[in-house]
Amino acid sequence: MLNKLRSVLGDADVLTSQAQMASYSTDWTGEFQSHPVAVVRPRTAEQVVDILRIASEFDVAVVTQGGNTSLVGGSVGGDWPHLIVSTRQLREVLTVDPATNQLTVSAGYTLAEVQECARAHGLEYPIDLAARDSATIGGTVATNAGGIRVVAHGMTRVHVVGVEIILSDGEVIDHLHPLVKDNSGPDISKLAVGSEGTLGIITAVRLQLSRPRTAAWTALIPVANLDVAIDISRAIGQQLLAAEVVLTRTANEVAAAHGLPMLSAETRWWLLVEGDAELPSSLLPDATIVALQPSDVERLWKYRELHTNVISHHRDVLKLDVSVDVDQLPTFIARVEEAATRHGVHEDAMYFFGHVMDGNIHISLIGAGIQRRALSDAVMDIVVEAGGAISAEHGVGQLKGKYLPLVRTGRELTLFNDVRQAFDPAGIMNPHVLQQ
Ligand code: FAD
Ligand code: MLT
Ligand code: ZN
Repeated sequence: MLNKLRSVLGDADVLTSQAQMASYSTDWTGEFQSHPVAVVRPRTAEQVVDILRIASEFDVAVVTQGGNTSLVGGSVGGDWPHLIVSTRQLREVLTVDPATNQLTVSAGYTLAEVQECARAHGLEYPIDLAARDSATIGGTVATNAGGIRVVAHGMTRVHVVGVEIILSDGEVIDHLHPLVKDNSGPDISKLAVGSEGTLGIITAVRLQLSRPRTAAWTALIPVANLDVAIDISRAIGQQLLAAEVVLTRTANEVAAAHGLPMLSAETRWWLLVEGDAELPSSLLPDATIVALQPSDVERLWKYRELHTNVISHHRDVLKLDVSVDVDQLPTFIARVEEAATRHGVHEDAMYFFGHVMDGNIHISLIGAGIQRRALSDAVMDIVVEAGGAISAEHGVGQLKGKYLPLVRTGRELTLFNDVRQAFDPAGIMNPHVLQQ
């Protein structure tokens, strides 16, 4: 198989030594280790066709990897035979169609490069997340990524016009055409969004760009609790571009690690909000920190965006990305705190931060030790009782498949598997992801 892959890609893009494969073989959290037969790095869609045909011929599993920033073990394999197909070198196309303000882009470009291309055309691609410099646009489509602008612009799915996806037998499905209207059957492109590498390899996407909505002001507001954060965010109204919450304690852990000024500990929470119209001064308490200059804005965002980085330096971290109805958040967090305490987690080892007006809180609980699985199960039970989502924006990956039956009916799970079987009869595409 390796000789066939080398004859298609050349030696340089078929990595087989442990040293060469190391950075591809461990996921971002360090929780998932992969032992691939090889890492291959196609530069064209045609090479992806050849790779998939070879993998099918030898019946070897394929794990598609973009920026390898998955937080649920979706971008690496395990100790079973597999190829990692890195899409980072898929950079054949990056063009804006002025007639439709749509961008056609190869999967390997980063989210930051796509945002920059849109800006250069006086437009905006309004999906944004802290991993923007590493996450690939193909990966954000495959995970239906969310991020910090969902409250104003929705998830990735909203902005995807079409994809080019290559199936495990090498069949190319190209829905990159510019037709404004095409109602000839169900939309395969929308199925590909959130498919996490299980239906095929997305080699290019066509995205709808937007008229730019630029933040006119950014404010970091002390709030006693999440109810106050929600009330202020709602009162800001239509101009709201972002609404993020952090605990003072964890924001100050970020501050200490990154040389930022400490935030007052007189409040338990801080709300980071942005708007694109007039600063609503009447809504902002005295201790609010308002930023108007880009450097000040960047500094305020560090308190929020560096949480993932700071938490990643701890060991024994249980990370859960979940969502509930916004108004249920305060009660939900209180119940998770109780469960974490019952499972041996100290209150100072509990991190709750995230996209408050999406109902999406990122939970990191440190020190559960052998109770980790029981604690994870307990949190998911609280999520399900609240009618929430076991995964808000990071996807299911290898981490959360066991919880799918809590939120999907047996019939839905059968349909999932039937669709997967139809796209990938050989069952080689990311076989351990999205599995119950
Ligand atoms: P990878 O991690 O390489 O892969 C992710 C999944 O997509 C895997 O299942 C993989 O098989 C599949 N995949 C990747 N590329 C393709 C392709 N071309 N075709 C088919 N399948 C493919 N996520 C959010 O939603 N919101 C956030 O705010 C957010 N913030 C983050 C902050 C940090 C610091 C980090 C490390 C991660 C964050 N993430 C966030 C998670 C992650 O960045 C997203 O899930 C992102 O979309 C993954 O993109 P990637 O290119 O790194 O994909
Ligand atoms: C974020 O919003 O910072 C991310 O989703 C990352 C995380 O959950 O750690
Ligand atoms: Zn997030």
